[in-house]
Amino acid sequence: MKKVISTPLVTALGCLIAWAGAAADPRTTNDGVFTEDQADVGEALYTEHCLLCHDKKYFRPVLQRWEGQPISVLFTVMSTSMPESNPGFLTEKEYVDILAYILSLSRYDAGDSELDFNDGALNELKIEARKK
Ligand code: HEC
Repeated sequence: MKKVISTPLVTALGCLIAWAGAAADPRTTNDGVFTEDQADVGEALYTEHCLLCHDKKYFRPVLQRWEGQPISVLFTVMSTSMPESNPGFLTEKEYVDILAYILSLSRYDAGDSELDFNDGALNELKIEARKK
């Protein structure tokens, strides 16, 4: 009976762990994390509920300031404190649509799937400087 764990096996395990680690890396706002349709829905909501106080340039520096943070932080701020006159007035889905629009305003690329707030998805999504 062989009791020695072979070196190739250890190496393979090491690779697997490294790979799993890489796979667990959060996606970033550069990965096409919302759809154009969603941003359109968000634009209508934004125009109705946010534009009064935040012009379309407002969020660019906000996103820059929060680079490296999960986007859930921004989602939490807006969904619990905005609109200032009526915090928490919109549904989570509506806030996330607005967030998609805010990303499109900063010229992040849209992709094939909608920005999603379920299952902590926003915790796994990092705000990253836009890649040009
Ligand atoms: C009645 C005015 C008003 C409305 C409407 C409003 N906000 Fe705000 N918002 C403010 C004020 C005032 C602040 C805090 C001061 C600042 O940073 O400009 C703020 C701050 C924020 C911040 C924090 C930005 C940061 O610096 O971190 C976010 C995010 C935000 N608002 C999102 C929204 C969204 C999304 C909507 C629409 C659903 C909205 N706001 C509607 C007045 C408003």
